[in-house]
Amino acid sequence: MEIRPTTDQDFDVFVDTLHAAFGRFPETPNEGGGGVWWAALEMDRGLLALTADGRPVGTAAAYSFELTLPGETLVPAAGVTAVGVLPSHRRQGVLSAMMRHQLTEVRARGEFLSVLLCTEALIYRRFGYGPATYTAQLTVPRHRGALTLPRARGTADAPATGSDTGTGTGTIEVLRRAECGEILEEVYDRYRRAQPGALSRPHRWWAVGAGQPPISPAPRYVAVHRDADGVPDGYASYSMGESETLTVDETIATDDAVYTALARFVLGHDLVAKVVFKHVPHDHPLRWQLADFRAGEVSGDMDWLWVRLLDVPRALTARGWFTDGELVLDVDDPFLGEHGRYLLTVRDNKADCVPTDREPDLSLDVSDLGSIYLGGTAPSTLVRAGHIRAHNPDAATLADALFRAERSPHCLHWF
Ligand SMILES: CC(C)(COP(=O)(O)OP(=O)(O)OC[C@H]1O[C@@H](n2cnc3c(N)ncnc32)[C@H](O)[C@@H]1OP(=O)(O)O)[C@@H](O)C(=O)NCCC(=O)NCCS
Repeated sequence: MEIRPTTDQDFDVFVDTLHAAFGRFPETPNEGGGGVWWAALEMDRGLLALTADGRPVGTAAAYSFELTLPGETLVPAAGVTAVGVLPSHRRQGVLSAMMRHQLTEVRARGEFLSVLLCTEALIYRRFGYGPATYTAQLTVPRHRGALTLPRARGTADAPATGSDTGTGTGTIEVLRRAECGEILEEVYDRYRRAQPGALSRPHRWWAVGAGQPPISPAPRYVAVHRDADGVPDGYASYSMGESETLTVDETIATDDAVYTALARFVLGHDLVAKVVFKHVPHDHPLRWQLADFRAGEVSGDMDWLWVRLLDVPRALTARGWFTDGELVLDVDDPFLGEHGRYLLTVRDNKADCVPTDREPDLSLDVSDLGSIYLGGTAPSTLVRAGHIRAHNPDAATLADALFRAERSPHCLHWF
């Protein structure tokens, strides 16, 4: 078995092998190559696994993203994608070999973490990945969708119109996806810089329409919110489906009031029986804004971004911290055959992380450190689950306080 990097010349064989692994046939790309997710592949980050006689049997690739850490720190992140092994060659170690190769390559590029979305949750923990962000879908029957704004802003729960946006100063305009120009790209970019767990969407994605709506050119209406100066600061991409269901692909807002205005807008759409908001964080304020707290039904609650740390001190010193404290972490990385014990010291929102031989407070696998890294999984939950070992009674409580983020991490980019 040989694992070799790909070049642009390998594009067709790469895409064909990947589709065969999934038992699918490639869709026909739109004119100009747009509209299919593989149009944005970075072929200099691909890997092909080949048999001894040169037949391709496995693929893996990575995108060069930026990930927003707690504290609004942006760091490079390898976004692992296009992972597949032909059904004829499964369970012979092909994926394991590709993962090893890829992690070495990610480190060689100077990236200290990689991220992925997984088809099946049983695959990637063994390679050091842990679920770190979560997402869900919120369904609201329109007749129970009145929103009550906090007293400080005055109470307003009338159905939305184009000008009554809930912010008092903004406006909403409905555009067709094809009329949006650079608006979505610009608004998304502002949003993701302040949202822990969010990934950048490289310009190429928008240029070739790779990914899910609204990046892809699939027909959509987009409610674009603008501030008092006319600058776009939020959008909701939506379409009407069966049974008078309006589905919102994503609601992107640069502040909470804009999100509220967009939610109010779609909930006020005529001839709609229910609104499905895809990709709502579990603890999103929208649930609390519904006058009828039970009107919002949460479903499809699932893991989204999995995180794999490749350099513990760099990773821990890169993110922002919000509570002072000191913890000794004993971190095991069985897949890479590595182990380290680190003293994490947080003072004034900054961390220092150095090797130590002090007794540990917590012993954990690198995949569990990935899970707690963005602040979306409480260390105490993993202690109670038996994943993390706490060596003293206060360790889990202190770790909870230390690792929390300024807000729940959330990612809605699909790759
Ligand atoms: C998932 C997939 C890539 C695994 O490739 P593979 O070459 O068979 O994996 P490996 O042989 O290296 O397996 C390594 C270990 O992971 C386990 N494993 C691999 N895939 C698994 C799965 N889907 N569920 C549970 N365990 C799995 C293997 O049993 C093996 O365990 P072991 O070390 O205890 O023996 C392959 O089955 C595939 O292409 N599936 C369809 C496409 C897909 O789901 N891709 C992932 C996209 S996120």
